Amino acid sequence: CMVRQYKFNIVMKNTTRLCATKPIVTVNGKFPGPTLVAREGDTVLVKVANHVKYNVSIHWHGIRQLRTGWADGPAYITQCPIKPGQNFIYNFTITGQRGTLWWHAHILWLRATVHGAIVILPKRGEWWKSDVEAVVNEALKSGFVPNVSDTHTINGHPGPLSTCSSKSSSKDGFTLKVKRGKTYMLRIINAALNEELFFKIAKHRLTVVEVDATYVKPFKTNTMVIAPGQTTNVLLTADRSTGNYLVSVSPFMDSPIEVDNVTATATVQYSGTLASSPTTLINPPPQNATPVATNFTDSLRSLNSKLYPTNVPLTADHSLLFTISLGINPCPTCPSGNRAVAGINNVSFIMPTTSLLQAHFFNLSGVFTDDFPGNPPVAFNYTGGTPPLNNLHTMIGTRLYRLAYNSTVQVVLQGTGLLAPENHPIHLHGFNFFVVGRGLGNFDPKKDPKKFNFIDPVERNTIGVPSGGWSAIRFRADNPGVWFLHCHLEVHTMWGLKMAFVVDNGKGPDESLLPPPSDLPTC
Ligand code: C2O
Repeated sequence: CMVRQYKFNIVMKNTTRLCATKPIVTVNGKFPGPTLVAREGDTVLVKVANHVKYNVSIHWHGIRQLRTGWADGPAYITQCPIKPGQNFIYNFTITGQRGTLWWHAHILWLRATVHGAIVILPKRGEWWKSDVEAVVNEALKSGFVPNVSDTHTINGHPGPLSTCSSKSSSKDGFTLKVKRGKTYMLRIINAALNEELFFKIAKHRLTVVEVDATYVKPFKTNTMVIAPGQTTNVLLTADRSTGNYLVSVSPFMDSPIEVDNVTATATVQYSGTLASSPTTLINPPPQNATPVATNFTDSLRSLNSKLYPTNVPLTADHSLLFTISLGINPCPTCPSGNRAVAGINNVSFIMPTTSLLQAHFFNLSGVFTDDFPGNPPVAFNYTGGTPPLNNLHTMIGTRLYRLAYNSTVQVVLQGTGLLAPENHPIHLHGFNFFVVGRGLGNFDPKKDPKKFNFIDPVERNTIGVPSGGWSAIRFRADNPGVWFLHCHLEVHTMWGLKMAFVVDNGKGPDESLLPPPSDLPTC
């Protein structure tokens, strides 16, 4: 194991996209930002130096941060922001994870341009033991440079079919050059602010091998679905003889009230093919192709091998039901007299002015309460009918839910049809969870748990809760600290669709949060 050091300079950079140039906030002048590469077991030190006029913080999305919650990054949750002119060194060790994750700014909407990939190589010497890894190993040996995709841009480019100019060429977009007969591993990250996405490559099938830095049972698919925050590794076998093939990234939204037809594109180009020769096109799935998405999601199973067992908790010390909803609150100062709010169990989260982790560690009172409701205040039909009015008028507060160290937790995330039926990609910091169940309509506490999968549920850090449906997750609270749970659609986060767990220290020597680093920013 080694120590890997990175320097992230937050700087403005003039960037041209769609024929317009504007200054954007970047890391080291790059968009997307630099790829962080480490091996399982390595310690990573990232010195972030803030040279812009905005506050900054960086989150290492999906990194467990065992006992190092100070390095997690969400502003006002685990740290005060890094102010203009200040530095902070994020210091964490990568344990028990391998694959693709990503990092992004975690303050307001800054992550739009401040994000990049995290590539975690498996420990040496253990990965040839299973099939998947052998293939992955091959893919890496072929010299393929890890690639990152995001919406509206693929590797920072909108693609050859973007409408910027009528004469755009494929140079305008990202081109993946392949050799016939070889297999490539694509690391795909949905870094979009507000949209779930379909990903397809013309005339090629993809083999899914890993999600959120955990291995899955490999399966083949024509279309991949990925929610904001999620990462997926797929194998692409170059089994055509020659040609250019279009890669398409298009929105998935099963809400009928929003329309978005923006499709980003890239090109897979076989060696020996000219960039100017014709490209085999592809039709993206319709925006509301819910069956395609459901089919994909249901195919995801954890590997559950000897080497990578699926340690899903078989008990639930805490059994929680979280309803996720959008609502309207009265707002005397707003032009319409109302404002949009979003909440969990009817509580819209108010960001504190100092960090929750500091308040927790130093026992500061008056920053948060630990009375977050484990169940919705009123039971009703969440996915249809008119809700009681008090379920539209959302409460506000900085309320946390307390978990004893090592307790087991089940959370049923119930999407609701109040106001707008939408998918919500819910992300939990500090843990991976197992997705033991999923369904449409209202969760039935009598019937549905009987169908839960405790054998090979997929393990991940972000789950797309279906609109008008539910997802059930389980995890073990083995990481002391304060851990954010929120919708990864930035607009919903902003409206308050977030909460946090506070996990107490355990009794053992390795079961407590480490003390804060000396350079931790103050608020
Ligand atoms: Cu990727 Cu709290 O987020």
